[in-house]
Amino acid sequence: MTMQPWFSEAKLGIFVHWGIYAVDGVGESWSFFGGDVPYETYMAQLNGFTASRYRPDDWAKLFRKAGAKYAVLTTKHHDGVALWDTACTDLSVPRRSPVARDLVGPFADALRRHDLRVGLYFSHNDWSHPDYPSVRPSKLHRPWVDNRYAMPAPGDEDPERWERYLEVVHRGQIRELIEGYRPDLLWFDGAWERDERQWRMKELREEILASSPETVLNGRMLGHGDFATAELGVPITRPEGPWELCYTINDLWGYQPQDTRHKSVRELVRVFAETIGHGGNLLLNTGPREDGTIRPEHAQRLEGLGRWISRNQEAVYPTEAGLPYGHHYGPSMLSKDRRTLFLVCFDTPRVFVELRGVHNTVKRISVLGTGQELGHRVVGGFPSRRVPGVVRIEVPTVSDPYATVLAIELDGELDLYTGSGEG
Ligand code: GLC
Repeated sequence: MTMQPWFSEAKLGIFVHWGIYAVDGVGESWSFFGGDVPYETYMAQLNGFTASRYRPDDWAKLFRKAGAKYAVLTTKHHDGVALWDTACTDLSVPRRSPVARDLVGPFADALRRHDLRVGLYFSHNDWSHPDYPSVRPSKLHRPWVDNRYAMPAPGDEDPERWERYLEVVHRGQIRELIEGYRPDLLWFDGAWERDERQWRMKELREEILASSPETVLNGRMLGHGDFATAELGVPITRPEGPWELCYTINDLWGYQPQDTRHKSVRELVRVFAETIGHGGNLLLNTGPREDGTIRPEHAQRLEGLGRWISRNQEAVYPTEAGLPYGHHYGPSMLSKDRRTLFLVCFDTPRVFVELRGVHNTVKRISVLGTGQELGHRVVGGFPSRRVPGVVRIEVPTVSDPYATVLAIELDGELDLYTGSGEG
């Protein structure tokens, strides 16, 4: 599969979960699905959704400050409420809320004005549409998916309604998004309720790429996406191929006022460094309030992450995954020409920093952000058997408050020692 190179070079995206659920501050879609809130109460939030302070240029400026290269907006979550004026269903914010206008177009335009790539989240499943709960998958993904919003009772299946859902709602709305907004990225969700064949995902991929060949597709297409989508935890081992981690600043996706366990900038820097050190992108989420404002705790954290990124730019753009664990105690990145390694030190280094298992000669070591040059010496090794010594690096006099990055310039392309030392 070929994918647009911008995606792997982007490193940071901002996920925006914005919808009527911010009015009462209840869980996006899941709150009625799980029975915490009656469906009618949930949908009554349409009346309170105003977007009265929605200024997507301010969002875009903030995302740029964070160091992001793209953003992804929830154009329709599992609740089926579209943020644009869809002709495929009646359930949209322009038609059914006081907002009375399209919210997706201004988002896409503002992002482009600020040189950000446009990502649109779209839920395959739609827990409001009467034609959606019409067929059952061959195997339930989890027992809890057997819910009246998602599935017909066994024996009540109606394949014709399913065909109508696929054509009119699913395919229809995806076409509207592509034609209306030309997204750089389509970020799907909710595939788990049907089989690949029921969704006809392979054909969906072909249809999208026929009309919009440059659009990148996320992994939630049951094997037909461009990159793997991890959620809420940095993978322990490096995934193969392009991948992205979606992650929350606090605990939940949509805005809920009591959701105040915001992660610190230091924690976010760690997750970001671990993610890009494994070659992935971080898609960091914020849930704006119903009026379109972003809570200040999130703005502060996004700006803090952005300051770290700008101090350590070279280690972020454009780099690739660094050393496998074992060579350095922490994440690392490698420059595109493979001649500079960036070692991330989470805690203030006190005695020395070690780099192990590298055949190259080190030409120069400096600290990003301060430019301080650091001395080093090579200890041990068995040159006649090509066993490299350990590079012991002096510690910087000033450390970064969040994570210090050392740039190690090598005498050529990185040449890793992979032996066990026996022989
Ligand atoms: C999940 C949830 C959802 C959230 C999404 C983000 O699959 O269904 O509420 O939007 O992940 O990745």
